Amino acid sequence: MADAIVTGPLSFTGKYLTKLLIESGKSVAGFTNDVSRANPFPGRLDLVRYSFDNVDSMATAMRGARTFYNTYWIRYPRGEMTYERAVQNSIALFSAAKLAGVQRIVHTSIANPSADSPFGYYRGKAGVELALVASGIPHSILRPTVFFGKEDILINNIAWLARHSPLFLVAGNGNYRIQPIAVEDYAALMNEHGERDEASITCDAVGPETYPFVDLVELIKKEIGSRARIVRVPQRIFYLASLLMAPLVRDTVVTWDEVRGLMANLLISNESPMGRTSLKTWLSDNAGTVGVEYHSERSRHYGEGRVSA
Ligand SMILES: NC(=O)c1ccc[n+]([C@@H]2O[C@H](COP(=O)([O-])OP(=O)(O)OC[C@H]3O[C@@H](n4cnc5c(N)ncnc54)[C@H](OP(=O)(O)O)[C@@H]3O)[C@@H](O)[C@H]2O)c1
Repeated sequence: MADAIVTGPLSFTGKYLTKLLIESGKSVAGFTNDVSRANPFPGRLDLVRYSFDNVDSMATAMRGARTFYNTYWIRYPRGEMTYERAVQNSIALFSAAKLAGVQRIVHTSIANPSADSPFGYYRGKAGVELALVASGIPHSILRPTVFFGKEDILINNIAWLARHSPLFLVAGNGNYRIQPIAVEDYAALMNEHGERDEASITCDAVGPETYPFVDLVELIKKEIGSRARIVRVPQRIFYLASLLMAPLVRDTVVTWDEVRGLMANLLISNESPMGRTSLKTWLSDNAGTVGVEYHSERSRHYGEGRVSA
């Protein structure tokens, strides 16, 4: 029996949270698609395969835990893995938590979710939030914008491109804004919310700095010493360029919804920042490593040998 349940305990956000939980003396059971990964916390972390079509079996893994920390979601649909299916899978996780008697759920959503959104990601996230509220389990719904950290995809791959290409295309005027949060700060926030007893809460989880996108690219360039020239292009040309780049990196570089969501200023918040870490300082501290290697969503979640439930 574990003290806490985490999704993706060896993936991105969940890995940082798992480390914090284990350092504070807790035992963790973690749901993942890939239980064959090397377990850095033998005896303290139990890897359990997602079994969305078997709620009872997921409930068995959750029994005895006080808090369920949920990060499960998909970045974009591919094949049979659609947003609708990810919503159903999330509901299965909440049902299992209820059956197991979990006392609190700390759920990772997204800033600015909306049932009316033109973007499937944001509509799906709104649907999952509604399902969590309907479950009646006390909860914290945390709404981050975008994470930065050693394994992140967006900031890292901007740096990768700025290192490897003489041109850096920016969609539109580049003045739309972005307010990232450090993954360590976000994991600490989840950990803190997991200890709470009081009523349910929903809040944004963003960092202390907001950048016009083009300024963020300039900052990254400066920190890594890139001389790539920034070229502003219409959003469709930008997206087309990302499609042309896709076979070179064998990845979906960016989705059309992500381009439009960013340009619609969905990656910022009007609430007070919860994260403290300065992106500028983090970039300066990590200038030698950020963007040296491309980070591929496809190989992380759709790679050979991985089975997505
Ligand atoms: N990354 C960001 O910048 C960002 C920004 C805003 C909000 N969020 C939200 O934060 C949460 C965590 O994001 P993250 O980037 O840290 O995710 P992650 O750790 O890479 O994945 C979280 C969990 O979802 C599973 N998963 C992810 N993609 C999947 C796919 N295509 N098929 C099947 N399972 C999949 C992972 O499975 P495995 O354990 O097998 O890897 C893991 O258990 C998500 O809810 C996301 O929507 C992320």
